[in-house]
Amino acid sequence: MAKKCLILGGGGFIGSHLADSLLEKGHEVVIFDKLNFSRKNINHILDRVRIIEGDFNNEVDLKNSLVGIDYVFHLVSSTLPATSNENPIYDVETNLVSSLRFLNEAVANKIARVIFISSGGTVYGVPDEIPVKENHPCKPICSYGIIKKTIEDYLYMFYNLYGLDYRVFRLSNPYGERQNPFVAQGVVPVFLKKIIKGETIEIWGDGSVVRDYIYIKDAVRALVKSLEADTKAKVFNLSYGTGHSLNDVLEIMRRVAGTEPGVVYKQGRSIDVPVSVLDNSLISSSYGWKPETNLETGIKKTYEYIKKEIQ
Ligand SMILES: NC(=O)c1ccc[n+]([C@@H]2O[C@H](COP(=O)([O-])OP(=O)(O)OC[C@H]3O[C@@H](n4cnc5c(N)ncnc54)[C@H](O)[C@@H]3O)[C@@H](O)[C@H]2O)c1
Repeated sequence: MAKKCLILGGGGFIGSHLADSLLEKGHEVVIFDKLNFSRKNINHILDRVRIIEGDFNNEVDLKNSLVGIDYVFHLVSSTLPATSNENPIYDVETNLVSSLRFLNEAVANKIARVIFISSGGTVYGVPDEIPVKENHPCKPICSYGIIKKTIEDYLYMFYNLYGLDYRVFRLSNPYGERQNPFVAQGVVPVFLKKIIKGETIEIWGDGSVVRDYIYIKDAVRALVKSLEADTKAKVFNLSYGTGHSLNDVLEIMRRVAGTEPGVVYKQGRSIDVPVSVLDNSLISSSYGWKPETNLETGIKKTYEYIKKEIQ
């Protein structure tokens, strides 16, 4: 049955792919994003979605956006892992406080389920064992991860106090078409853009940092499934389940682009955990979902997209 879905932050990288997937499955989609936000990511679906422009930090905008909605995907974040420690108060005010306001409104509007995109790369901190399972202790080392985990905890509290249903997806490292190559999140588009433009790639550390890269269309397929199934668990890792070092990623890019990029290695950053690979067996068994796109195939698709965008 078609569900009425609101995507908070729906004009962004993940939100726009999620909108595509929801529409494919026949659901109704409302996109909430900033005033005058760029329509670039959603130009192709403008005739099939309703758009609400507003500020997630504004209570009235939030209240209005929830009218007539059953399911809400919360994808708004004002900070990034790499820079969130510079101003934790801003992080608390714009992400935590606003999310709490949103949860109050969700209860008042009898929202059927809130689906929150958390961060598998930061909520666990430095893992004790790999791959990381959902019951691994959470010891985030950046403000971004602390806020994501705290919002997860409040979702649990709102569920217990008011029966507000929820799902949390601790997403690993998504990449793919439409990811912004100009921000400090996502090495795949950043490196590919530099390769295409013939610029030097900068790597923090010796390139041994390992991450679990998941192609965006695989990731949103899992998010859409969260509407259908009633699962016992509410918190899931969402990942490919295999680790690749930055040097591995570069090697794949060399093959895909057929060029030898210039690379400089710089001092490592304290906010980068050395290894992050997430166990995805819980989401696989609960939703019958598996990632289908390996890193080389996903990088090829992203490379073609960025090449077209830049040229
Ligand atoms: N991209 C990643 O690597 C990654 C990994 C794990 C989790 N996440 C989480 O997934 C979510 C979406 O990430 P993304 O990569 O699509 O980011 P994005 O920046 O591409 O999209 C976020 C969207 O939210 C909108 N937004 C931000 N502040 C807003 C506000 N105050 N009011 C209204 N809209 C606002 C932005 O305009 C943007 O369109 C975020 O919560 C992020 O923390 C991302």
